[in-house]
Amino acid sequence: MSEALLSSGRTLGVIGAGVMGSALLKGMLNHGLLTRQQAWATAKTEASCVEVAQSLGITTVREYEELVADAEILLIAVKPAQAQKVADRLKQAGMRKDALLISVLAGVTTARFEEFLGAENAVVRAMPNTPCLVGHGITVYCGGRWATEKHLEVAQKIFLSVGKALEVEEHYFNAITALSGSGPAYMYLVMESLADAGVRVGLPRDLAMELVAQTMLGSAKMVQQTGRHPAALRDDVTTPAGCTIGGLLMLEDGKIRSVLARAVEEATRIVEQLGKGKS
Ligand SMILES: NC(=O)c1ccc[n+]([C@@H]2O[C@H](COP(=O)([O-])OP(=O)(O)OC[C@H]3O[C@@H](n4cnc5c(N)ncnc54)[C@H](OP(=O)(O)O)[C@@H]3O)[C@@H](O)[C@H]2O)c1
Repeated sequence: MSEALLSSGRTLGVIGAGVMGSALLKGMLNHGLLTRQQAWATAKTEASCVEVAQSLGITTVREYEELVADAEILLIAVKPAQAQKVADRLKQAGMRKDALLISVLAGVTTARFEEFLGAENAVVRAMPNTPCLVGHGITVYCGGRWATEKHLEVAQKIFLSVGKALEVEEHYFNAITALSGSGPAYMYLVMESLADAGVRVGLPRDLAMELVAQTMLGSAKMVQQTGRHPAALRDDVTTPAGCTIGGLLMLEDGKIRSVLARAVEEATRIVEQLGKGKS
């Protein structure tokens, strides 16, 4: 079991136990970072509260004011537009001065969140992605004005429970949101397209999908474990006048590199607007 996250008698509250909030809770519970009694969560609707309480076995409430006073860590996972509302509610509920706030809200900077709070609480901003649901996410995080090394270590422990975790400078966040935050959606589109391609050349769909998913997983592991450049790995599977070079040429004809670059560029532009509250 990993070292516990919380001091005795203190709790961790998740404000917004949706997809991301629940995935993080599940990771922390599974890794023994906290007990079920130390965790609580809230959602907007009663239905979501009931669902999370049943699936994770923790306390969930819509009116969480009474629980805030004991919270040592507050994990904020509502939609970005709710940030101000949540900050106001936490303040009114008497949030402790030493409570650490961890926000996964896309586009909301630490400075903006600190401004919403109007207090000197430590804030850590993070950007996870949905593979956190299966323990293979990648999360980046950074500290705000009042966050210490200890706060960053706490955040790192939380995000390591659902995959990899990297501390980065905050100015990279919009680009990272567009690359690895949105990234799973790009990968799913590529997988779906390749599975269709398999069907086109005569494979049953289930078989095509299994081949594609494992090929994507294996290729990613090759890059991570060998440390070699993808171009070098690609050369290894490209024999002169063979079928792979023929397929690659078609991908280049279709401008796959610039299409992917433009997709990330556009997603970055949109996340910048999100951060300014323009969406
Ligand atoms: N999903 C991703 O891939 C991803 C990746 C990185 C970061 N994020 C960030 O994570 C955050 C949540 O995204 P998500 O995909 O997990 O969304 P989600 O599934 O819709 O979850 C949002 C949760 O917040 C609850 N909620 C809404 N308003 C609330 C309020 N005023 N007070 C308390 N709870 C409230 C919702 O309750 P109900 O269920 O009752 O509506 C829901 O449980 C977003 O800020 C997003 O930018 C998401």
